[in-house]
Order: sequence, then structure tokens, then C-alpha cells
Amino acid sequence: MTETVPDGERDRQTESPDDGGLTTGKPPGPDGLPVLGNVHSLADDALAFYERQSAEYGGVARYDVFGTESYVVSDPAAIERILVDDHDRYVKGQMPQEQLGRLLGEGLFLSEGEQWREQRTAVRSAFFRERIEAYGDSMVEHARATADSWNDGDVVDAHTAATGYAFSVLAESLLGDDIDDERETVRAAAESITERFDTSRLGSFLPEWVPTPTRRRYHRRLDALRATIRDLVAERRAGDLPSNPGEADDLLGTLVAAAEMGAIDDEELVDNAVTFLFAGHETSALGLTYTLYCLAGRPEMQERIYEEVAAFDDDPTAAQIRDCPALTAAVDEALRRYPPVHSFFREPTEPVELGGYRVPEGVVLTLSPWTVHRDEQWWDEPESYRPERWLREVDGETVHGDDTAGPAVGERPEYAYFPFGGGPRHCIGMRFARQELRLATATLLRRFAFERETESLSVQASANTRPAEPVRLRVRAR
Ligand code: HEM
Repeated sequence: MTETVPDGERDRQTESPDDGGLTTGKPPGPDGLPVLGNVHSLADDALAFYERQSAEYGGVARYDVFGTESYVVSDPAAIERILVDDHDRYVKGQMPQEQLGRLLGEGLFLSEGEQWREQRTAVRSAFFRERIEAYGDSMVEHARATADSWNDGDVVDAHTAATGYAFSVLAESLLGDDIDDERETVRAAAESITERFDTSRLGSFLPEWVPTPTRRRYHRRLDALRATIRDLVAERRAGDLPSNPGEADDLLGTLVAAAEMGAIDDEELVDNAVTFLFAGHETSALGLTYTLYCLAGRPEMQERIYEEVAAFDDDPTAAQIRDCPALTAAVDEALRRYPPVHSFFREPTEPVELGGYRVPEGVVLTLSPWTVHRDEQWWDEPESYRPERWLREVDGETVHGDDTAGPAVGERPEYAYFPFGGGPRHCIGMRFARQELRLATATLLRRFAFERETESLSVQASANTRPAEPVRLRVRAR
């Protein structure tokens, strides 16, 4: 399966520090069109394309986008090396910079090296367990409001409902009480961000400077969002400030305190506020959409979770749901079956070895939870939604796999499951998101049972894994 490489390429590769008698050729992959490479297959159905790459060409498979050499990496051991063991030999690279640079600037998602490390240290207290638990009441309250808008027998679009829910939770966690006056500016910006990165449109592959109407609206709304954040920062500075980032009540407070300490400058502050909005809104909304959709197809699993959460006198708290194994498994399995982030990227900063191939500096590596989570090598019947695979019996009690020896039942490499990425750059909002998804699911299931009206769900690779059509569920009051 190995192709020959030009002499110059081979020389460059054998200079690599990792020379261990390994294959020196490029990984195998499909032929692409001149200039365009494989962009037509990607634009047509990126998820199916990545899956085909993995199934037909193996754990490291080559493709080409407008002349940029790219590899899909679907071997969990290679993924672990990239994200964990050798993480300092990789950067997120040019692709995310080109697509997201103007949006996220030098915020946590895109920054690299020392700048990234300083930011991550400065904001991490906002994601400690106690702080996340403090957001629990707001997560439950917004789920209750969602449930209150439904009546027995209604058919609801789970994606629309979950988007509204996740927006309310994140906007409040980000801006606290300030959100009341700024809701529309923030909502419009969040909506435009989602629309701008809709990769089911060929236009989204065009260079950033091409002014489509979607892009003009997006830039206008983004400018309004940044201006609003600057105003709110000025107001906070005029009031009482927390003495350190750990004492702030919301994410903006953490960022302002970090700026006061000199850990980030004012541009980075605004970049990070936008970053949290981008990274934490659509992802969580999709996680909840897929959890509800999957559960709607498994009535007996809904009952099992109902038994766990109906035992509480009131809607559960963040601490209580830690002891709900079926609920936890239901969310984890939905994030396996439909990972909201279908893929993300890395580039080596020096020649590296992966899966027996020499990878030159600058190659775009696509790491795709979507592909790996559906690989039969690691998952029995990957297409079926089976929360049971995360549960095990220990001394007559059901526990979630995380509670005992490993992430799941069975022999499976750790990076066969990575909905939140991994290593030092794993999702900083992971605990927030998992708690939010479990509290929302618990609060909704205490009031309603869900049935599927949309029988078969098709998804598309936008910036995230989006449903191609409305996700219609019928709600039955309990
Ligand atoms: C189900 C919901 C979520 C999923 C599936 C998800 C997934 C991910 C993934 C895969 C990455 C790694 C990207 C990479 O390595 O290139 C990531 C990074 C990140 N996520 Fe999340 N995320 C979710 C929710 C959130 C939330 C709620 C927030 C914020 C409140 C958030 C903020 C971030 C940030 C700031 C990063 C960049 C971290 C860094 O580079 O240090 N995410 N997320």
C-alpha cells in the first residue's frame, strides 16, 4: 500500500530524529482532482469521506485539499501520541487559524505555546468542580423553563429546543446578570457564527476575503458582539472586581480578573469571551439534541433513568447526578454515537512518525471522533445506541464504567473514545458540558417521556456534527 516518494522528500524524512527502520513512504489515499484535490468528496459528505479513508486505507490515510497534504488519523494509539505523549511537537495549525482566526483571535482555542499556557492557567479556576457545580441551579432552571413550554402530546424540534437551552445556560455562565440587556446581540452573533461555519455549503471553503452575504452579516454581528463585551468589561472595571480569577461569579469575571493580574491583555480578554461562546454553545446543544433523540428510541432506558432521577424530592443537583450511572451512560453513549465535534486538526512542527509513516512538518492531520467512535475494531455494533456498554455490575450494584477500572467495559484503547479531545488541550468545558447535559436530561425526563417522530436521523459535517433536518420528538407528560 506504500507509494514511492521523491528523493528529496525521502532525504528530508530520513533526517527525522525518529528513524527506526519504519516505512518512509506517504500513507495511502485516494487520487484527487488537479488543484481541487479531494475537496469535492469532503464538501459532498465529509463524515462519509473520513470513514471511507479509515476503512479503505487504514489508521493513517492521505488526502488533499487545494494542494494541502492532509491525513486522516483514526488509529487510537496514533491519536494518543499526537494529543498526549508528543503534544508539544504539534500545533493546531494553519487550517483552524484560517477558518477561525478572525473570530477567535488569540483566545484559548487557537493560541499556542507560552501564550496558550498562560491563558489556560489564568482561566482554569472557572472550570474547577465547585465553580461548575455552582452553575448547576441555572442549568436546571433553564431545563425547567424548556419543559414548561411543552404540553403533553406536543411534537417538538429537539435541536431548536436544545439550542435555546444551551445558549441560555452558556450566556448566563459567561455574562451573569449582564445577559439580560445583551441577550439579542449575543444570540444573533452565536447564530451567525453557526451559520458562517456551515461546511455543507461550498461557500464555506472559499478564502476568508470573499464577501458572501452570510459573511457580511456575520462580520457585522461579530463586531457588535465584541463592542458589547468591551462595554461590559468597562462596566465591570468601574465596579467591585474579584481579587483573583478564582473568586469571580461568571466567566467574564474570571477573564476581567485575569486581565487585571496581567495574565492576559484586553484583546485576549475579548477573544476569550468570544471563544467560550463559540466553543461551548453549539457543541452542548448538539450533545443534548442527540441524547434526547437516542433516548427517544430506547423507552426502557428512559424508564431506567427515570427511576434514578425520580428518587430525588426535587430536580436533581449537580452533586446528586454524580450517582446516576444510567443517566451518565446515556449521555456518554450519545456523545459516542453522535460526537458533536466530528473532527479537529493538528500539524506537526517537525517531521514525526505515525503509524509507520514519516509525516513531514506542516501536514494537516485530521483527528475524527466520528470515525473512531464508529470503528468496529473498538465497538460492537457501533451504529446502535447502547448506554449499557458503559455500565457494569460490581458487588450487585450497577456502576458507570468510569467508576471502576477504566472508561468502558471491555478491551478498548483509551483514544477509541475522545469526544472532548485529549491531553493538555482537551476541552476545558468538558465538566461543564457533561454536567449540563446530565442535568438537562434528568430535569426533562422527570416531566416527560420522549417518542420519535423523526425515525431516521441524518447528520452533516458543519463546523460541528449537525442534524440535516429538524429532530422531531413527541413529548408525553408523566
Ligand atoms: C458536548 C459539548 C462539547 C464538546 C463535544 C466539546 C469538544 C471539544 C473538543 C473536541 C475540543 C478539542 C479541540 C482540539 O483539540 O483541537 C474542545 C476544546 C475546547 N472547548 Fe469544548 N466541547 C464542548 C463544550 C464546551 C463548553 C461548554 C465550553 C466552554 C464553556 C468549551 C470550551 C472549549 C475551549 C475553550 C476549548 C479549547 C481548549 C484549549 O485549547 O485549551 N467546550 N472542545
